[in-house]
Amino acid sequence: MNNSQSIVDIIKSRRNTKQFVNRNVTDDELCILLDAAVWAPNHRNIEPWRFFVVRKDSSVKSDIANGLIDIQEKAVGSPSSKIQKQRIIEEVSNYPSLVFVYSLVDDREEMTEENYGAVCCAIQNMQLVATSIGLSVGWSTGKMSKLQNMHSVFGITEKLKMVGVLTIGEAEDSVDKVRTSYEELTQWF
Ligand SMILES: Cc1cc2nc3c(=O)[nH]c(=O)nc-3n(C[C@H](O)[C@H](O)[C@H](O)COP(=O)(O)O)c2cc1C
Repeated sequence: MNNSQSIVDIIKSRRNTKQFVNRNVTDDELCILLDAAVWAPNHRNIEPWRFFVVRKDSSVKSDIANGLIDIQEKAVGSPSSKIQKQRIIEEVSNYPSLVFVYSLVDDREEMTEENYGAVCCAIQNMQLVATSIGLSVGWSTGKMSKLQNMHSVFGITEKLKMVGVLTIGEAEDSVDKVRTSYEELTQWF
């Protein structure tokens, strides 16, 4: 197999993952992903990515749980019960390692958009390298990316836009996905 063939295989076998086996991803493994991330293309070499790593056993998990409880309470308009809170706390403590990924916001909308594009490329680098070393990534722009308290928890002072919260671990099982062929989506002139 030549190199370009193996890259295509990795691209096609990468899967967005939500279920992980119970094992701690090492800092070394996370560093391999982060190192790949910062080699993503980025216009004007702004390097607009910012990463905040929350290890599986980090105390920051309790801030995440509190933020999720807050979202839940605002959504239903009443305080959560002890059982509901406990369920969220347990769910968060079971999450694998997390990487919160943000992109720099600029006064010029065009640059903010370019920065966002670059950070998406950085995340894809992480996903592909994860796949190549037997790990998987889940990319979330759901509730976890909307936590109100994380800017202060992380001590963020720059103007940043959330691009995704990545859950990183070893996938519990493999999932098959299909894609529409490029032939249906491409016009040649
Ligand atoms: C910008 C972006 C945001 C995403 N947000 C979520 C999300 O909030 N929750 C989720 O389950 N998957 C999310 N995903 C993952 C997609 O759902 C996933 O890529 C899609 O189902 C295709 O599956 P595959 O990545 O395994 O090929 C997101 C992907 C992208 C690119």
